[in-house]
Amino acid sequence: MPITLERGDITRSDADAIVNAANGSLLGGGGVDGAIHRAAGPGLLAECRGLGGCATGEAKLTGGHALPARFVIHTVGPVWRGGSDGEAELLASCHRRSIELAAEHGCASIAFPAISTGVYGYPVDRAAVVAVRAARAALERHPTVLDARFVLFDDRAFAAFERALE
Ligand code: AR6
Repeated sequence: MPITLERGDITRSDADAIVNAANGSLLGGGGVDGAIHRAAGPGLLAECRGLGGCATGEAKLTGGHALPARFVIHTVGPVWRGGSDGEAELLASCHRRSIELAAEHGCASIAFPAISTGVYGYPVDRAAVVAVRAARAALERHPTVLDARFVLFDDRAFAAFERALE
């Protein structure tokens, strides 16, 4: 089973690449983005300044700096606007593009947080279904990425992803 779930803090993950739920500026923020920048150190922000931001549903890769992970893949999830504004397709695209970048950079493992389910307000039950389906499809197309983990910070997110995996 190439998709697994973990409870905890993604900044401690030993996956080859961890995914950051960033905003379009790629210049840091709260939530998991803030935690990743704090743990990676100022070199990450310096590298991000050179990237010119990132569109919603897209992803860009940097080094991991002081993190255990070799790479950070910064992706920008959709803000939840009720579900009929393309949110599901954009969230799926975040997962697909992240796995494509991981494959291009020789990563065997990638760790995702529950993108868009915090500040961006995406209902976690719905997000989990979209995330798991998109990750599964992308892993099939990129077999060199052997495993994708979802690292969930709280019980609610963990339970939602458990249901989505069933
Ligand atoms: N490890 C794993 N998951 C975490 C961690 C952590 N260390 N910290 C928080 N989470 P959010 P979004 C969970 O708000 O909704 C930022 O300001 C959190 O519990 O981080 O995509 C960006 O700069 C939630 O389940 O991301 C953007 O402006 C999940 O990560 C905006 O927030 C995502 O919550 C992006 O909002």
